[in-house]
Amino acid sequence: MQQHPLASKVRGDFPILKREINDFPLAYLDNAATTQKPQCVIDSLLDFYSTHNSNVSRGVYTLAEEATEIYEEGRESIAKFIGATDYGNIIFTRGTTESINLVASAWAQHILKTGDQIIVTEMEHHSNLVPWQMAAQASGAELVYWPITPEAGSAGVGLLEFEKLEDLLTDSVKLLAVTAVSNVLGTVNHIAKIVEMAHKRGIPVLVDAAQAVARMPIDVTGWDCDFLAFSGHKVYGPTGIGVLYAKKERLDEMLPFQGGGGMIRQVGRQSSTWADSPQKFEAGTPPVAEVYGLAAALKYVSDVGIFEIQKHEKELTAHALNRFAEFTDLELYGPQDICDRTGVLSFNLRNVHPHDVAQVLDEGGIAVRAGHHCTQILHERLGVAASVRMSFGIYNEVSEIDHLFSTLDRARDIFLD
Ligand SMILES: Cc1ncc(COP(=O)(O)O)c(C=O)c1O
Repeated sequence: MQQHPLASKVRGDFPILKREINDFPLAYLDNAATTQKPQCVIDSLLDFYSTHNSNVSRGVYTLAEEATEIYEEGRESIAKFIGATDYGNIIFTRGTTESINLVASAWAQHILKTGDQIIVTEMEHHSNLVPWQMAAQASGAELVYWPITPEAGSAGVGLLEFEKLEDLLTDSVKLLAVTAVSNVLGTVNHIAKIVEMAHKRGIPVLVDAAQAVARMPIDVTGWDCDFLAFSGHKVYGPTGIGVLYAKKERLDEMLPFQGGGGMIRQVGRQSSTWADSPQKFEAGTPPVAEVYGLAAALKYVSDVGIFEIQKHEKELTAHALNRFAEFTDLELYGPQDICDRTGVLSFNLRNVHPHDVAQVLDEGGIAVRAGHHCTQILHERLGVAASVRMSFGIYNEVSEIDHLFSTLDRARDIFLD
């Protein structure tokens, strides 16, 4: 197997990679869906439940204090990881989806009025579309789509053009919601520039960082975004934990999301007053073990080095782009220029259904995703119902990509001969 220096350094940290699938070593190329967990993250969950388990903020005994410390220290380390200066701006949720729904119902729904607009892009995941549709329907607002190229005279495929955005940024727009990295095209969007343009018109920006968080440095302060959402499981952490970052002025505009324990200051018979944020948005028993696991995952990523990870992913992506160029029956979606994209590559093998392709790849031990990847609007725009997606993580090797391309021959033999 051709070894990549970073992959060979970290592979041993991920016990699941020892698995064989259909007599082949597992080639896990579905990292955009979820990432595998290093031993330190698995150990942190075991450690929490075997030595610290307790509820938070509800006891003065030692275990309760330890659990509270773990939870709040987790908040601090997560703030640091995404470049937030105040850990009070970090709200824990179940994932990106819940973080965006939180903003849609606790902020947008009561800010929006009839005739207002929300800008979204044609490359958004359903999690960054449907909550806005629901908020718009409840308030009489509408969604406006920032199209992707190709447009007449445009340069690349699957890019967002700034001239188009200029036209869309009118006084009716109350929010721009955009992904930092497309979960299908691999496009890397210029968040700082988007935020700058929107802010010139006084428009807040929400960034969906679900795909970006494990692939590049996140800097909410440098980007100056108003909201940012991501999921722990996409950055080598546990499922069931997500993050919403919100600027102080936006937090002040937000109403509670859910009512219950932990989010109140005083409860009266008919009404209640709220705790300060972030507790105001964290009703009920929080995911303490998951926060501990996420903090362990982010420490792991920081120790490996996010710039190293970014470089590794660029190298794998460059290799995959070269391999795609060899085949005329493979249609690759998204930018062809490595500068515009990262290691999420969706494609189709002409005249073969993507599910059939994925099935044959699985027979070779290769895990990829087939379907619309929660982007029906984008697939409609691409003119296909579904695609096959390979997506890289820190443990992937060039040889796994080559194995995928040679296994595609088997799909050709079965379905095209
Ligand atoms: C770009 C993007 N946004 C949002 C989500 C939703 O993430 P989750 O299911 O963890 O809430 C995903 C998941 O694939 C994604 O790729």
